[in-house]
Amino acid sequence: MKRTLLLKVDSQEPETEKIGVAVDFIKRGGLVAFPTETVYGLGADALNPKAVRSLFEAKRRPLDNPLIVHVGYVKDVSRLTKKVSPKTERLMKSFWPGPLTLILRRSEVIPDVTVAGLDTIAVRMPRHSVALALIRESGCSIAAPSANLAGKPSPTTAQHVLDDLDGRIDAVLDAGWTRIGVESTVLDITVDPPQVLRPGGTPYEELEKILRRVELHPVAIAEKELATNEVRSPGMKHRHYAPDADVIVVEGELSAVVSKVKELSEVYMRKGSKVGVLATDETVDYYMVNVVRSLGSRRNLAVIAKNLFRLLREFDLESVDVIIAESIPAEGLGLAVMNRLRKASGYKIVRAGGR
Ligand code: TXA
Ligand code: MG
Repeated sequence: MKRTLLLKVDSQEPETEKIGVAVDFIKRGGLVAFPTETVYGLGADALNPKAVRSLFEAKRRPLDNPLIVHVGYVKDVSRLTKKVSPKTERLMKSFWPGPLTLILRRSEVIPDVTVAGLDTIAVRMPRHSVALALIRESGCSIAAPSANLAGKPSPTTAQHVLDDLDGRIDAVLDAGWTRIGVESTVLDITVDPPQVLRPGGTPYEELEKILRRVELHPVAIAEKELATNEVRSPGMKHRHYAPDADVIVVEGELSAVVSKVKELSEVYMRKGSKVGVLATDETVDYYMVNVVRSLGSRRNLAVIAKNLFRLLREFDLESVDVIIAESIPAEGLGLAVMNRLRKASGYKIVRAGGR
């Protein structure tokens, strides 16, 4: 057990001394959690195999699930990949710093453990002053998965990080809430047309504006678990974003969804289960169950994305047995939200009103 240092920092202009403390840990092969615009990441020097191995251990992540390498400058990418193509340049110019992770061919400097032995590497430049200060001051590329225990919802506050990792990591830079609340979009540009492997903070519709052609990998929109041979990103096959409670997602037209959520809640409550409903501002008053939470208004999918992981964690604090979640429109950030909900449910999806 280590003592985990909590470093509160200003989110716009992080204090030099505090960044300095975090930088020292990184340079010495330690583990530091830090905020990005999406979720908190758990950072280690990406080129230090020992540090990266301890990162996998700290979050109990299976070694076959590769990490995203975070850079402080666009020029750092040329060390990590074999060749920076015009398409890569265009995407970096349009979306960085920001919530877009690019899958590229890797160079030889990357230790195998960082990329789980693959011949590709995931790279992104985060849009957050604290993240950028940490990366730039350390002079390292920083490998950083989300700073949660493997399988748990990603952390959107430093407290969430501590709930999972206190005593397992060296420090947390605390700059409050993360702005977006779901992880970055993962775009594989080693294939043609490029493929979205994980929908996230950069909406598909934005990518379409820059790329002539771009596809959504079936898992990004999957309504059921894919066979192993359809899995392109190792992360796709692991259970994810799951609170302790069982999750059921109810999909369909809104009024049918509300009726179905009510019906299912009654069934579970009659069986003696403690039921949580994940609703929206428009529907939250309809439910009479043990715990009801609203993600926000259906008219503002950004707010829904921002609240999602926090609410999944809150249901666990209330010790509900089952969470019944309304679906939301799968457009813009809504696609990322639906992807996380479906995965959290282990693809327990109920269709309301039939098709
Ligand atoms: O917003 C984010 O992306 C956050 C913040 C901290 O930057 N990070 C994050 O990392 O979500 P993580 O490790 O939780 O998710 C990385 C995803 C996993 O699904 C992983 O399988 C995939 O990216 N990935 C990493 N390297 C890959 C590669 N070479 N090919 C395909 N998928 C890859
Ligand atoms: Mg993660």
